[in-house]
Amino acid sequence: MFLPTVVAFLVVVARMLYLRRAGRCTSTRSLAGMTAIVTGASAGIGMETAKDLARRGARVILACRNLTKAQAVVDHIISETGNKKVVVRLLDTSDLSSVRRFAKEILQTEDAIHILVNNAGIAGKQVREVTGDGLELTMATNHYGHFLLTNLLLKRLKESAPSRIINVSSVAHFFTWKINLKDLNFEKRSYGTLEAYAQSKLCNILFSLELADKLRGSGVTVNSLHPGTVGSEFFTRDELAVTWFRKLFLFFGNIVLRLFGKDNKLGAQTTIHLAVAEEVEGVTGKYFDECKEATASWLARDSSLAKALWEISEADVQLAPSEIFY
Ligand SMILES: NC(=O)c1ccc[n+]([C@@H]2O[C@H](COP(=O)([O-])OP(=O)(O)OC[C@H]3O[C@@H](n4cnc5c(N)ncnc54)[C@H](OP(=O)(O)O)[C@@H]3O)[C@@H](O)[C@H]2O)c1
Ligand SMILES: *[C@@H]1O[C@H](CO)[C@@H](O)[C@H](O)[C@H]1NC(C)=O
Ligand SMILES: *[C@@H]1O[C@H](CO)[C@@H](O)[C@H](O)[C@H]1NC(C)=O
Repeated sequence: MFLPTVVAFLVVVARMLYLRRAGRCTSTRSLAGMTAIVTGASAGIGMETAKDLARRGARVILACRNLTKAQAVVDHIISETGNKKVVVRLLDTSDLSSVRRFAKEILQTEDAIHILVNNAGIAGKQVREVTGDGLELTMATNHYGHFLLTNLLLKRLKESAPSRIINVSSVAHFFTWKINLKDLNFEKRSYGTLEAYAQSKLCNILFSLELADKLRGSGVTVNSLHPGTVGSEFFTRDELAVTWFRKLFLFFGNIVLRLFGKDNKLGAQTTIHLAVAEEVEGVTGKYFDECKEATASWLARDSSLAKALWEISEADVQLAPSEIFY
């Protein structure tokens, strides 16, 4: 009886300590009259972000790949917040034609976009998968899709200034210490599950850096962040559990995550802080953790690398001259 009691006690204390230092958005700012787009808002951090922005009165567009799943989230948000200006639109960030279709529809229907949250993301693809556009799937979902989306919506974001772009990156960007610009899609080197994820998240920060530079003085800010370790659907997805060893690892991992990690609401705080807080008005090109500015890896702070990556990405998504608004 003694040992389990001690263990349970330690678990509770460790959890309290972690959650105590977790950053929380303290801003009470209203977003009445404003429009926000959140990608990957059908689950986890994105869902909680959308709900919070809706509670503040914004028109919120959930940009999601599964309309059935996302519509249930919309219904839930409307009933929780009483805000009826919440809608879902189809977006698969891994498919460039889907991104172009989504952007076209948004530009036709929305007079203004004040907040763009690039949140959708995947990890843990065991083997290299290639999309119809010839891009590696993790990179396509986490990086290229958002790269294109952000560029296509830039005109409207500029017209709506002051406006904010928020990129959900990850502390996992520290797990890679080199980036091969000539082989972003793992065609020449061997594919690594973690390497693909880390690289995609490094790209998120580098792009925020370069775009912030391009947009200086425009009233549009761009920042990236690590949400913390969050017990969302992220670590429970089927594609992660491909071997029995992985299944076992994930089973216990998810128990630990539920005990020690943040819930979705807490995981969304830094995103929400960057989207709404008065004190980050005008702040751009920075990396945040726990609602505070933090230091990204040295690779993620290399501005010439950011510039080179930008140019390669433009070529990879075949950004047309008519699609450039920076
Ligand atoms: N959880 C963590 O500890 C953690 C840590 C660091 C960073 N992050 C980052 O936080 C972000 C959100 O993750 P989460 O923890 O909230 O995970 P999650 O619960 O798995 O949610 C991911 C969301 O992204 C959507 N999505 C995935 N691929 C998509 C695609 N191709 N097109 C459109 N939407 C797509 C999912 O849609 P469906 O519902 O249709 O699957 C879902 O709504 C990710 O960028 C992740 O890298 C998470
Ligand atoms: C979409 O979401 C629904 C409801 O959560 C789920 O039953 C269905 O399997 C999902 N579809 C795809 C293609 O993932
Ligand atoms: C982050 O921001 C940049 C610049 O807007 C964009 O090109 C990049 O792909 C984004 N990544 C994500 C996942 O938000």
